[in-house]
Amino acid sequence: MIQQEIMRVVSQREIARNIFELILEGAMVQQMKQPGQFVHILPNPGLDPLLRRPISVAHIDKMKNQFTVIYRAEGKGTNLLSQYTVNRQLDVLGPLGNGFPINATDSSETALLVGGGIGVPPLYELAKQLTKQGVETKHVLGFQSSEVVFYEKEFSRYGETYIATVDGSLGTKGFVTNVIAEKQLDFDVIFACGPTPMLNALQQEYKDKKGFLSMEQRMGCGIGACFACVCHVNEPVNGKDYVKVCSDGPVFPIGRVVL
Ligand code: FAD
Ligand code: FES
Repeated sequence: MIQQEIMRVVSQREIARNIFELILEGAMVQQMKQPGQFVHILPNPGLDPLLRRPISVAHIDKMKNQFTVIYRAEGKGTNLLSQYTVNRQLDVLGPLGNGFPINATDSSETALLVGGGIGVPPLYELAKQLTKQGVETKHVLGFQSSEVVFYEKEFSRYGETYIATVDGSLGTKGFVTNVIAEKQLDFDVIFACGPTPMLNALQQEYKDKKGFLSMEQRMGCGIGACFACVCHVNEPVNGKDYVKVCSDGPVFPIGRVVL
């Protein structure tokens, strides 16, 4: 059930350059089901900025009623968000969207998790949940440079973890696709989240594999009402040639959406 809640800031820290880890507490956590779901955060209860910001759930802790998001402070809304200190209150709508279907794979299979930049966070809860059900996970995480790399150690707890940086300052120089080719990574199912060019490259390469891609489309309402996030599909779904990323996704089977 989607709810709007005033949540408490438990902690906020900068974990890489302009990358913040924020832990929030509230009853909504009990409604969070799938990795890859997101929340819609209102950074300013005043008028500017007017719109909420969609941010993925990176880690769920139902025992403590807490969840973690990781975001890059770059524009007006996320810069405001980065100024929230412990015990302040934040207006959150969620949990939203359909996340990664973890039952699409089983313990006999290997899953490759591929993240680019701010697409990395939802893969962390995914790695945790897949590992819990006995699936072997491998992780390939791509960033611009070593200064903005985060959660390498955390992912390593769940499986082999490879880093790519565009400038070559850490790990393989280049893109996530370079790592997959260079290390000749074998897998049965691929899960990915990141910028559209990255998703497009993976969709072209692995269209015949089992896979799921999470999209970072610009959003308005976040609940399927405004059509801001509409994308075309390759084959009509239920008679429609488009999907709404916020309410039909943000995760789609590989090959479904025109990227
Ligand atoms: P501004 O420039 O002030 O934003 C202007 C407007 O553009 C806002 O309405 C904003 O929502 C929209 N916008 C700008 N860039 C994007 C973008 N790339 N995607 C969607 N809307 C955009 N970012 C993270 O750092 N961590 C996450 O875990 C994360 N998860 C996301 C999950 C989903 C489902 C989606 C759709 C996006 C996610 N993003 C995430 C991207 C994040 O929402 C944008 O970077 C953020 O909204 C930009 O806001 P701003 O205040 O920094 O920028
Ligand atoms: Fe409004 Fe998707 S953001 S319909």
